Amino acid sequence: MKTETTIQGLSASLNPARASRKMIGFVPTMGNLHEGHLNLVREARKLCDVVVVSIFVNPIQFGPNEDFDNYPRTLEHDSHLLAEVGCDIVFAPSVEQMYGNHPRLTNISVGEITNDLCGLQRPGHFDGVAVVVTKLFNIVQPNYAFFGQKDFQQLAVIKQLVRDLNMPIDVIGVPITRAEDGLALSSRNGYLSEQERKTAPTIYQTLKTAETDLHNGQALSDVLEKIRVNLTDAGFVVDYIEARSPSLQKIDQFDQDVVLFIAAKLGKTRLIDNLQVKYSS
Ligand code: PAF
Repeated sequence: MKTETTIQGLSASLNPARASRKMIGFVPTMGNLHEGHLNLVREARKLCDVVVVSIFVNPIQFGPNEDFDNYPRTLEHDSHLLAEVGCDIVFAPSVEQMYGNHPRLTNISVGEITNDLCGLQRPGHFDGVAVVVTKLFNIVQPNYAFFGQKDFQQLAVIKQLVRDLNMPIDVIGVPITRAEDGLALSSRNGYLSEQERKTAPTIYQTLKTAETDLHNGQALSDVLEKIRVNLTDAGFVVDYIEARSPSLQKIDQFDQDVVLFIAAKLGKTRLIDNLQVKYSS
């Protein structure tokens, strides 16, 4: 496995693969990797000849009170994990390399789907994601790009971006990887205290209960309210509990497939999760 830290170096490494029309798969990450990321790489490995993983903590997607400075940078450990799952090239540029060469005047805004759910609490976040993902797509020029469904809204934003701007890339959403007790894997789980870690799977349990309640005919609004009560009783501070169609349209009845979204704080840690509930009449 190679590690490249410059755009030029990465191009030199990828040019032979491009020339022989090999399928390039790309997994963008911010590092501090866990099994969820590794599953994205495994999916890429199945479909592609060459697998590139980027590790870049993107400053422009963090708000002023978010954890950019403290975000764990664990390149050496991440590289070991990536080598084990068959990554070919790690691209780990500096902030200077990505943003430093000239002032950036271009912004990318993907419209109303970014001003909903997590976008409401994190203004500008998805613009920052859209810019860095576009830059990375242009640098890597992959055939396929892999994103986790845990960040369902991010995945929807990137699919929209790729469609709107005719980027010749297949965006693949990979199902959420969960711990045995159901907690969705996330770099932020590392911030939880021992007690909070025991409470955290309540999020998934409430989602599964909600799925059963919906299939038993309970009204969507009642089901959302029950989730709120259960999470609050367990000690969470709820940010949002929402129901959307898979394309993120607001819905108020369970008469089609629905995605249930939760964002809630446990102590200082903000956790998100979602569950897609199939409608079958
Ligand atoms: O999901 C992430 O880790 C980041 O938002 C991404 C897609 C790597 C862009 O910085």
